[in-house]
Amino acid sequence: MLGASGFLGNALYKELYRYYNTYGTYHSGKIYSDNKHYLKFDLVNDDVYELLRQVQPSVIISALRGPFTDQLEAHELMVGYAQETGCRIIFLSSANVFDAFSNYPSYENDKTLSQSIYGKLKIRVETLLMRHLPEEQYAIVRLPMVFGVGSPRIQALKNELLLGDAIEVFPHLVMNTTTDAKLRQQIHYIINRKLSGIFHLGSTDLIHHKEFIHELVIMLDLNRKPIYKNVFTSNTDRYLAVLPRDNRLPKHLQITNETVVESSKKYI
Ligand SMILES: NC(=O)c1ccc[n+]([C@@H]2O[C@H](COP(=O)([O-])OP(=O)(O)OC[C@H]3O[C@@H](n4cnc5c(N)ncnc54)[C@H](OP(=O)(O)O)[C@@H]3O)[C@@H](O)[C@H]2O)c1
Repeated sequence: MLGASGFLGNALYKELYRYYNTYGTYHSGKIYSDNKHYLKFDLVNDDVYELLRQVQPSVIISALRGPFTDQLEAHELMVGYAQETGCRIIFLSSANVFDAFSNYPSYENDKTLSQSIYGKLKIRVETLLMRHLPEEQYAIVRLPMVFGVGSPRIQALKNELLLGDAIEVFPHLVMNTTTDAKLRQQIHYIINRKLSGIFHLGSTDLIHHKEFIHELVIMLDLNRKPIYKNVFTSNTDRYLAVLPRDNRLPKHLQITNETVVESSKKYI
C-alpha cells in the first residue's frame, strides 16, 4: 500500500491487513494499525522499484500524492515491476480525468480529457497502466469527492462552520460522492475477486454540490448559521460525476448521496 499514512491509504490498510500480509508506506505521517509493517518512503528520493523488490507484493495499491513528476516516474517503475513479476496494480484515480467534459456524467469507457494538471496526471498514469499491462493486471478506480466520519472534507466543513468562515459552494456543479468506509469494502472485493479494468466508484445518484454541502451542514447540527460563498465557474450546470455502467459492483457495494451524508455523521 503506497500512501498508507494518508486518508484513503490508511482506511484501506486497516481493511486489508487482517486478511492479507500487508505492508504500507508513510512519508511524513503515521499509519494507524498494529501489524507494524510500515516502511518509510519518499517519492522524490527513494526508488520505488527497490522497495517493491524487497516486499515482493502480489498486489500494489497506489494511494499517493506528492510532486507530479515524481509520481509519474514512480508509476513508470511500478509498471516495469508489474511487467516483470505479473503482480497487479490498483490505482486510485479521480473523476477529474473528465473535468474538461461538462455536459454529462461519465462512464467507465468514455474518453478522458482534463483541463487541470491534477486530472492530466491521473490520465497519464491511467494511460501507462492501460498501454503497458494486460487488463488482468490493473484496476483503475476513479473516485469522486470522498467523505466519511473522519474525512478531511468533513473536518474542514466543521471548522468553517465553527469559525464562521465562508463555505465555498459551486451552485452549478452536479456531482456524485462516496465515503472511505464504502471504498474499503469495494477495494477489498476487487482484490478478493481479482477484478480488473476501470471502476467508477461514485454514488449511484447525482446531486448539486451546494445542496450536498447544505445537507452535510444540517447533518452536522452545530447550531451555526452557514455563510456560503457561491463560486460560479459556468453559466449552466456542469457535471463532474463518475457513474458505474459497464463494471458494476453488487448492490451491497453501491452507495447513495443520502447514505454518504448519514455515514459522515457519527463521532464528529
Ligand atoms: N480524498 C479524495 O476525496 C480523493 C478523491 C479522488 C481521488 N483521490 C486519490 O486518492 C489518493 C489518496 O488520496 P488521499 O485523500 O488519501 O490523500 P492524502 O491523505 O493526502 O494521502 C497521500 C499519501 O501520499 C503520501 N505522500 C505524500 N507526498 C509524498 C512523497 N513526497 N513521498 C511519498 N509519499 C508521499 C502521504 O504520506 P504522509 O501523509 O505520510 O506524508 C500519504 O500517505 C490520491 O492519489 C488522490 O488523488 C482522493
